[in-house]
Amino acid sequence: MIVGAAELVTMAGGPRRGDRMQDPGAIPGGALAARGGRIVAVGPADEVLAAVETGPDTQVIDARGRAVVPGFVDPHTHLCFAGDRAEEFALRLGGATYQELAARGGGILQTVRATRAASQAELVDLGLSRLDLLALNGTTTVEVKSGYGLSTADELKQLRAIREMARRHPLTVVPTFMGAHEVPPEYRSRREAYVDLLVGEMLPAVAAEPGLARYADVFTEHGVFSVEESRRILQRAKELGFGVKVHADELSDLGGAALAAELGAASAEHLLHTPDEGLARLAEAGTVAVCLPGTSFCLMNAPYARARRMIELGCTVALASDFNPGSCPAYAMPFVITLACMYMGLNPSEALAAATINAAAAIGMEAEVGSLEVGKLADVVILSCPSHWHIPYHMGMGVVAQVVKQGRLIVDEGRVIRR
Ligand code: NIG
Ligand code: FE
Repeated sequence: MIVGAAELVTMAGGPRRGDRMQDPGAIPGGALAARGGRIVAVGPADEVLAAVETGPDTQVIDARGRAVVPGFVDPHTHLCFAGDRAEEFALRLGGATYQELAARGGGILQTVRATRAASQAELVDLGLSRLDLLALNGTTTVEVKSGYGLSTADELKQLRAIREMARRHPLTVVPTFMGAHEVPPEYRSRREAYVDLLVGEMLPAVAAEPGLARYADVFTEHGVFSVEESRRILQRAKELGFGVKVHADELSDLGGAALAAELGAASAEHLLHTPDEGLARLAEAGTVAVCLPGTSFCLMNAPYARARRMIELGCTVALASDFNPGSCPAYAMPFVITLACMYMGLNPSEALAAATINAAAAIGMEAEVGSLEVGKLADVVILSCPSHWHIPYHMGMGVVAQVVKQGRLIVDEGRVIRR
């Protein structure tokens, strides 16, 4: 049971669009009770206390006048990788662009070399410590993509590592196959053969093994995968039963958003260069628009996604970290919320909706997580401040005091509690 909250932000009532994004469903002095990992009561404290029988086994958390919000959902990460790209970061500080480094064989391909060289067990260990960092910052559900293997064996190794880290960590992990993250060096002179491999061998191999991936994602970009190639890959993925996602219009306007809408994708991500027409297509198709302001911040020479325009046009807008070693080594959702407020014009309630219930919708988890409602997983963050408006005000730093995952305290004042 959680009592003593100054405000309990529920985000009840499903994913939010338009003006509803401004209503966080906050209950002043609200309380919450959970049993067996799920929420059994939520509302004003007196009602919750009256509705729920407590006993000697009941664990009561006193929020002591702080705010309680749904656990953050991060619907877009690439956190399963080996190595780092700190040197490239320094080169970018000196003026080199992300695209220039990629064209020289750095970028994603640099991480592919390190990830191919790592064992599955090493990837699991790296992943587990990163999941701890996410938990410390209030994330309770996270999507993780493969895409640094780029061969059948190495993609399977990455996806098995993701499955194993999920088994060993309290966070909920939603896995995505992203063999179409880049064309590997050995296929550079015959790219069509790599698309054939994705469609003919990799996707069926991933589909054949239970629990390896729920979604398939493609980097639709100049010099990576064209709209036609992306369509071919994602259509095959749909036939095999995967939900689909698109890295769309990150570095240029190639029409990735329109493709995502056409395919009925769960989400289109990045959207830095998407024109109004593409955004309107996303709204019409119900494809969630996932914005990654940490990436714009880290790329330095990139614009921010036009979240205000997306909201005007009726899109379901979500936020994610994009945590990866190149374009966004940051993973803390409170920092992402800060950037969304400071550079994308969201207010703190809108940004929190985008980082919880709308983010859950981007990964098909809106019935399970993203809001504090009876029947959902008891995934809860107790902030160190009295209102969710303080999250961006403190620039995302030090705002998470305690984290409850499925009814169990997993973070307590800056420490991860291992079972
Ligand atoms: O979302 N755009 C492609 N993928 C990542 C970058 C991955 C990397 O640089 O390693 C992104 O920005
Ligand atoms: Fe990404």
